Amino acid sequence: MDVANTKKRKILVTQALPYANSSLHLGHILEAVQTDIWVRFNNLIGNECLFFCADDTHGTPVMLKAKELGVEPEQLIKDVQIDHIETYKLYDIDFTNFHTTHSDENKKYSEFIYNEAKNKDLITRKTIKQLFDEKESMFLSDRFVKGACPKCNEENQYGDGCSKCGATYDVSEIKNPISALSGTTPIHKDSEHIFFNLPKQINVLKDFLQKSDLQKPIVNKLSEWVNDDLQQWDISRDAPYFGFSIPGEINKYFYVWLDAPIGYLASIENWASSNNKKMEELWSKDSNYEIYHFIGKDIAYFHGLFWPALLDSANLKLPDGIYVHGFLTINGEKMSKSKGTGILAREFAEVCDPETLRYYFAAKLNDKVEDIDLNLEDYVTRINSDLVGKYCNIASRCSSFIKKNDNKLSDNINNELIESIKSKKPLVTSYYNSRNYSKAVRLIMEMADDINKYINDSTPWKKELNDAIDISSSALYAF
Ligand code: 2FM
Ligand code: ZN
Repeated sequence: MDVANTKKRKILVTQALPYANSSLHLGHILEAVQTDIWVRFNNLIGNECLFFCADDTHGTPVMLKAKELGVEPEQLIKDVQIDHIETYKLYDIDFTNFHTTHSDENKKYSEFIYNEAKNKDLITRKTIKQLFDEKESMFLSDRFVKGACPKCNEENQYGDGCSKCGATYDVSEIKNPISALSGTTPIHKDSEHIFFNLPKQINVLKDFLQKSDLQKPIVNKLSEWVNDDLQQWDISRDAPYFGFSIPGEINKYFYVWLDAPIGYLASIENWASSNNKKMEELWSKDSNYEIYHFIGKDIAYFHGLFWPALLDSANLKLPDGIYVHGFLTINGEKMSKSKGTGILAREFAEVCDPETLRYYFAAKLNDKVEDIDLNLEDYVTRINSDLVGKYCNIASRCSSFIKKNDNKLSDNINNELIESIKSKKPLVTSYYNSRNYSKAVRLIMEMADDINKYINDSTPWKKELNDAIDISSSALYAF
C-alpha cells in the first residue's frame, strides 16, 4: 500500500504514562522512541498526528516515595514531572502535550466516567478482607506485603508473586506475611470496596477485540481472559491514599489504574483548551480522529479490557488500536536495580549521544510483542558501521569536491541513481506505517550502500574536477 498517497488521516497517539515516583530508565525511552517515530512519520506524510502523554501520579508508590523523601506527594510529583519532561527532551521526544493525572481535567473526567458507569448500573459494592498494617493505619496493597511463597517456601517474596519459582498467587495465600512498610505482622480487616462490573461489558469487549487493530498474540491473550476469567474490577482504595476521592463516598479514593488512562483524555483536553479545539472534535464518537495507544506488554490487560469497558460505559469512542511492545533487556538481561543493569535515561545521555540510541532502537524495533535487547557492544559497532561508515561517509567523501565548487551542487545529476532511491519510497513508507522500523532502517542502509558503491565505481578522485563535482552532487542528492 502506498500510504503516502491515501487520504489525510487525523490521529491521536498516546504512550503509557510514566509513574511519578522515579526517573525514567531506558525502557521508557524505548517506548517513547517507538511512538515518536510513528508520530513524526505520520506528520511527514501529511497526516495530522498529535502525541499526548502525562505523568501517572497517584497511588501508594508515589505516597511512600514522598514519605521517604520527607516531602508532600504534590511536591514530589511536581519535581518528577520537570525531571521527566527534561529527560524526554534530551531524547528529542516531541509531545504535543505532556500533562499530569493530578489535574482538574483528570478529576473531572474520572468523576464523569464513574458517574456514567453508575447510571448504567455498572458499579457494585462488596466487602473484602484485606491485610491491614495497624502501625501505619493502612491497608496494604499486594506489593507491600512480604512473606514466604506458598508454593516453594522461598522467604521474602512479594504478595503477588514469587521471584524464585515464578508462581503467582493471591496475597491471602502468602505464608507468615509481614508489612513491607513497618515490618509488623498485618491483621485481616474487612473493608467495603467499589467495583466496576467488567463481566457485564463482555459483549463490548468481544466486539472491541474483533474490530480494533491489535497484534495477534495480544488478541489471543485478551480473548482468553474475556472467555474464562472476567472478574469484577476493584476500583476503590481506602484512605490514606494519594488520588481523587470518590464522589458520594467517605474516605474512599479511585484506584490509580482507574484514573491513569483517563489521563490520556485529560492531557488532550488540557491541550485543546489552550489551542482553540473542542474535545467533541478530538475524542468523541462523532470525531474524525483515530486513537492509538502505544504500551508495554505488562499493561495490555488494563488497556485491552478495563479501558475500553470504561470508555464504553461513558459513551466515549474506543481506541482504534493498541500497539504493544516487549521489554528492553540490556546485554540479554532484564533490567534490575540490584544487579546494576538498569540504566537511567539521563545518565546514559551524559555519555552517549541520545540520537545514536534512537537509531539503534529504530534498527531493532518491529511490530512484534517480543523483547528488544540493547547489546552495548553491538550498539557501538552498529553506530560506527551504519551511521559513521556508511551514511555519513557519503557526505564526508563528497564534500571536498563541492567545496571546490564554492559549496554549490551541480545540476548535472545522475537520474538513474536518484530514481532508484526514490523508487523505494512506498516500501519505506509502508514499513514505518506498520511499525517495522527495523526493516525501514535495513532498506535505508542498503540504499546508503548503493550510493557508496556508485561513488566507488565512478572514482571521482580520478576524474576531471567538473565530472567529480557532478558525481559528488548526484551522491549528495541521493543522500
Ligand atoms: O505501567 C506504568 O508505568 C503505568 N504508569 C502506565 C499507565 S498508562 C495509562 F494507563 F495511564
Ligand atoms: Zn516460589
